[in-house]
Amino acid sequence: MAYRDRLDELTAAEKAALTSGATAWTTKGVERLGVPGVRVADGPHGLRRPADGADELGLGGSVPATCFPPAVALGSSWDADLVRRVGVALGAEARDQGVAVLLGPGVNIKRSPLCGRNFEYFSEDPLIAGVLGAAWVAGVQSRGVGASVKHFAANNAEHDRFRASSEVDPRPLREIYLRAFQRIVTEQQPWTVMAAYNKINGVYATQDPWLLTTVLREEWGFTGLVVSDWGAVDDPVAAVAAGLDLIMPSTDGRTDALVLAALESGDLDPAALDRAAGKVLELADRASTGGSTDPEPDPDAHHALAREAAGKSVVLLRNEGGLLPLDPAGAETIAVIGEFARTPRYQGAGSSLINPTRLEAALEEIVRYAGTDRVRFAPGYRLGTEPGDGAAAEQQIGDEVSRLREEATTLAAEADVVVVFLGLPAAEESEGFDRQHLELPAEQTTLLDAVLAVNQRVVVVLSNGGVVRVSGWQDLVPALVEGWLLGQAGGSALADVLFGAVNPSGRLAETIPLKLSDTPAYLDFPGQFGRIRYGEGIFVGHRWYDARDLPVSFPFGHGLSYTTFEYGSPRLDPVGDDGDLRLRVPVGNTGERAGREVVQVYAGLPGSRISRPPRQLVSFAVTELAPGETREVEVIIGRQDLAYYHPVAGRWLVEGGRYQLEVGASSRDIRSMIMVDVAGDDPGLRLHLGSSLGEVLAVPAAAEALRRLVDGTPTAGMLSSPELIAMIGSMPIGRLAGFPGSQLTPDKLESMLEQLD
Ligand code: BGC
Repeated sequence: MAYRDRLDELTAAEKAALTSGATAWTTKGVERLGVPGVRVADGPHGLRRPADGADELGLGGSVPATCFPPAVALGSSWDADLVRRVGVALGAEARDQGVAVLLGPGVNIKRSPLCGRNFEYFSEDPLIAGVLGAAWVAGVQSRGVGASVKHFAANNAEHDRFRASSEVDPRPLREIYLRAFQRIVTEQQPWTVMAAYNKINGVYATQDPWLLTTVLREEWGFTGLVVSDWGAVDDPVAAVAAGLDLIMPSTDGRTDALVLAALESGDLDPAALDRAAGKVLELADRASTGGSTDPEPDPDAHHALAREAAGKSVVLLRNEGGLLPLDPAGAETIAVIGEFARTPRYQGAGSSLINPTRLEAALEEIVRYAGTDRVRFAPGYRLGTEPGDGAAAEQQIGDEVSRLREEATTLAAEADVVVVFLGLPAAEESEGFDRQHLELPAEQTTLLDAVLAVNQRVVVVLSNGGVVRVSGWQDLVPALVEGWLLGQAGGSALADVLFGAVNPSGRLAETIPLKLSDTPAYLDFPGQFGRIRYGEGIFVGHRWYDARDLPVSFPFGHGLSYTTFEYGSPRLDPVGDDGDLRLRVPVGNTGERAGREVVQVYAGLPGSRISRPPRQLVSFAVTELAPGETREVEVIIGRQDLAYYHPVAGRWLVEGGRYQLEVGASSRDIRSMIMVDVAGDDPGLRLHLGSSLGEVLAVPAAAEALRRLVDGTPTAGMLSSPELIAMIGSMPIGRLAGFPGSQLTPDKLESMLEQLD
């Protein structure tokens, strides 16, 4: 008999007890009935299962696990199948360690490049976050391990995250911040969803009935369990009433007692407690079935997958004169400069910190390709950026910095080509706080200037979880590689790309702006006095830069290859019953190497009645092409992805009209275009006395009825004057009725509206 079916056998106290964790990482069971607790673990880019006997929170050491590329990197692959395969591997490792739920994926939108946790998130774009998040969930759950999609929702800053309220209007909330969650829930039915720390429009996400019940369960049909982020619940009774099922971590029975007391006093609906306890039992059911026959995960195979994924995540931003790839069999000497080549930064700090099964440094891997004779190394800068304590210490640091720089510059001057590793210090990127700026440490940029003064054949490789400013020097270096944080196999993956064993194919899933003050949330990040105003509305990421026509360093979707691709004219299949658009785009590989191209489709609706960006990503597809090969790539644009959220109608609608579908290699490299007529949805809005004259006149039948009604009265003249209509078009028709001489009455209008219905 399923545990869930035994709910009625539980006492109220037992039910209340199930609503909080047993420990930091386990739920409670019901010993009397043989119901086991289940184990959960972070997530997302590897398994962080605290070693037995380690500290409770497990930040001090977890069992070794494959450290796959964090989401910032995976996001740049734009490759759902790859992310699904990573998910399968993650699920297998979790299962092997007795972990029933892996706490990921993180699908929050990168509203500002400063968010301290951007390395854990996929993109500034909800389609990418949704598609890749869904693939991750599909992979993990295929191993009989549950996912926990987080952080639901509008958790886009770390500053004051336990209290701050994200103040978001309905359209951006639905179209940008909830959209990825909606896709994942409706397509993959994750076992759990994790409610975020922050408030949304004044209500804690963990205590918000609209979010957890109306939207998540009723509108999207979520059937799984809602767990709180760790320590996110302020009022446990309000949380259970709102739709939260499990408070994590353990509260030592404190919250259980409050829930029980509220039940007994009648302040908590027994149905809410039944739902919560029932979901915990259901999770125990899911955890104890399926998947146990898996062979043990193979660390070598997983490392190889981590390397493949990292290779597909590297973004080649610039490659003037074909400086890359380097020739593994050539004679050129290579100066590798930068401590990050030897001491890699490969993941961010906080709850997602993985203890990797092994770790590669790019330096060693470069030597493996080119041989020791060709490669020389200099660290060039210090890893930390702490100032010295006192004048003497500062002097000492200054001397050390100069010595490192001089040593590196000497090496650079002697080499044929210089590969400079730059990046963000680990201490700047972590859960719990945001960055203050987009700058690389001055010590590093000064080093780069010094290197460029003696040798211009420079490749810069970046290691960073959040976007850094590259304007100022981006045009001075012929080759620029965005290496993000690539996980434990990042070293070999970077060497694979530098030497051309892997043809780079990553694409920016976030814009690299020229400067911080250009970014969409600049004036409202991270908010103050406990409120974060999402003033930019739906204009997030590329939507913002395109709507404002702002120049950027590198646009959303950008990424070069060692080969070239040519796009033919797209064709549209006849639209089927589902309303989805099927676009066929011929893409040819016109270069000498096999390559992987990401075909991107953006939609715009010139003359739209609602505010919208000139283009937004509506679909993408990946194709691999041999040299000289051409293929027709099918890109499906779901009707739902053309929709906007109508806050008055309270639902998603497709606006009818002639859409412009742009096919491109980035949001600013549009290769071809096709127009398509799309039928609109009826908003189903009824006209009423509060509707404006303009709104009435916009509906042909209503306009005609109104004209008939006023025929022969002075108002008729008014309605035939465009100037007057422009002036009074915003007046509610009910008020028009009261105007002297109008001869309209509210009664007449009401019966006109009734007839229209
Ligand atoms: C983080 C979550 C994480 C949880 C458990 C929280 O602080 O926000 O992402 O899953 O801790 O470690």
